[in-house]
Amino acid sequence: MIPRIYIPGDSGALALGAEKVAKAIASELAERGIEAKIVRNGSRGAYFLEPMVEVATANGRVAYGPVKTSDVKSLFDSGFLTGGHHKRWLGAPDKIPFLAKQTRLTFARCGVTDPLSLESYKKHGGLNGLTNALGLTPAAIVAQVTESGLRGRGGAGFPTGIKWKTVLDTVGDRKYIVCNADEGDSGTFADRMIMEGDPFVLIEGMTIAGIATGATKGFVYIRSEYPHAVAVMNKAVEIARKAGVLGASVLGSPNAFDMEIRVGAGAYVCGEETALLDSLEGKRGMVRAKPPLPAHKGLFGKPTVINNVISLASVPVIMDKGAAFYKDFGMGRSRGTIPIQIAGNVKYAGLFEAAFGMTLGEIVDEIGGGTATGRPVKAVQVGGPLGAYFPRALFDTPFDYEAFAAEDGLIGHAGIVVFDDTADMLKQARFAMEFCAIESCGKCTPCRIGSTRGVETIDRIAAGIEPEKNLALVTDLCNTMKFGSLCALGGFTPYPVMSSITHFPDDFKPAPVRVAAE
Ligand SMILES: Cc1cc2nc3c(=O)[nH]c(=O)nc-3n(C[C@H](O)[C@H](O)[C@H](O)COP(=O)(O)O)c2cc1C
Ligand code: SF4
Repeated sequence: MIPRIYIPGDSGALALGAEKVAKAIASELAERGIEAKIVRNGSRGAYFLEPMVEVATANGRVAYGPVKTSDVKSLFDSGFLTGGHHKRWLGAPDKIPFLAKQTRLTFARCGVTDPLSLESYKKHGGLNGLTNALGLTPAAIVAQVTESGLRGRGGAGFPTGIKWKTVLDTVGDRKYIVCNADEGDSGTFADRMIMEGDPFVLIEGMTIAGIATGATKGFVYIRSEYPHAVAVMNKAVEIARKAGVLGASVLGSPNAFDMEIRVGAGAYVCGEETALLDSLEGKRGMVRAKPPLPAHKGLFGKPTVINNVISLASVPVIMDKGAAFYKDFGMGRSRGTIPIQIAGNVKYAGLFEAAFGMTLGEIVDEIGGGTATGRPVKAVQVGGPLGAYFPRALFDTPFDYEAFAAEDGLIGHAGIVVFDDTADMLKQARFAMEFCAIESCGKCTPCRIGSTRGVETIDRIAAGIEPEKNLALVTDLCNTMKFGSLCALGGFTPYPVMSSITHFPDDFKPAPVRVAAE
């Protein structure tokens, strides 16, 4: 049998040198006259081990990483094609602790299969969910998704089944499925990873959504900073269309569904669902007032499901294994699994899919291994730029929508960014206001003006000008933004600001006044 070598081709691994490693392996194969097949798989998400090269052996896959080009010759000398020992040897990938501790439902195939091989996709359970869905009525599919407890992974945690039911129940001559792949949150990369590593699962999820709601057309709105994801998704859609997964007769059924990939315009606010719809329609991305909900009047005024990539990509496993199977994972009203993206100043950065319920401390200290600098963790920002900063005192908070909300935080898209004790939380609070000022769509005053006044007021605190009065002013301003903003950009910017002030008050005290030497 021809040896198979797996070298990730996703942007994360490429950024860490996977392309050079692939070229070095290919030229070494040629030089040694060895015939082998190189598969450019996605990453399994253990980025601290990328580029992680795997070989298929008679005893299963064996991983090596992080591989450098300078390792390639010695890897061949050590017989890596049959799993031989080498200083980069990691053993069976699914036994690597970071991977072994996960519950991979949505990311089950990511890093395992060839992303653009429909055969490989099917061999690993792909299209089972869609096939099952085609045997059900739309209402029954919606009921399954509702029953699974799946909530939107884009940020708000809204029940996916309820959103789909609203679209199903709304009359329209055309309906749309829009996938939100704008992924603007700091420290997040789950959408990109799955689009690059297992694109068919998103196509399958969107097709099921179409059949469930009566929509025949889908759009994936991908941020312009993701050229690899755009390329992979475009190719995957073409393959799916040729294979009859997409088109006038989905898998030979009477149902029609097709989709297109669209590239975003590059604004954080274009991730907000109504601004995204404006942008998709070719307009400047501005937030729309609700009602009407997109489910009633969305893209081009038609009933529209708008869901995050991970929400949609989680549907095939639900339709394959059943709502009860998925619902069995998790805690409270947070059911199933969530791909936690561990980033920032952390030793083991990567994507960790787990059932809801792990504590923040377990994720940061045990899975993430603490800071990369080796200094104490000071704060963790959960949920992107609009998420709160949690101090160590809140590390026993379980990863659960309600538990985070109870501590004035949010899970958002499940990105966590770790900071060590050198972080200046006043600067982080200022950054949150500045980010809001730059990214504001400008439609409403609390956000457009408030964020700029926020930056100025925090600057006054930093300069020691009437600090108590200005801290009270920032608090007041945050309340105005929280309750007076039209969308969550202005409405949630107070979270990082107020959590910094509440949990790290020392950072807001004026610097000691230096007395000039006589
Ligand atoms: C400023 C702002 C940016 C957002 N960015 C994203 C994003 O990049 N991706 C995303 O899926 N949702 C984003 N959201 C949330 C969406 O508005 C919306 O809730 C989500 O796409 C719905 O899908 P879900 O129910 O599957 O989560 C953002 C919201 C706001 C207010
Ligand atoms: S809160 Fe900010 S981003 Fe949202 S609508 Fe108002 S101005 Fe636009």
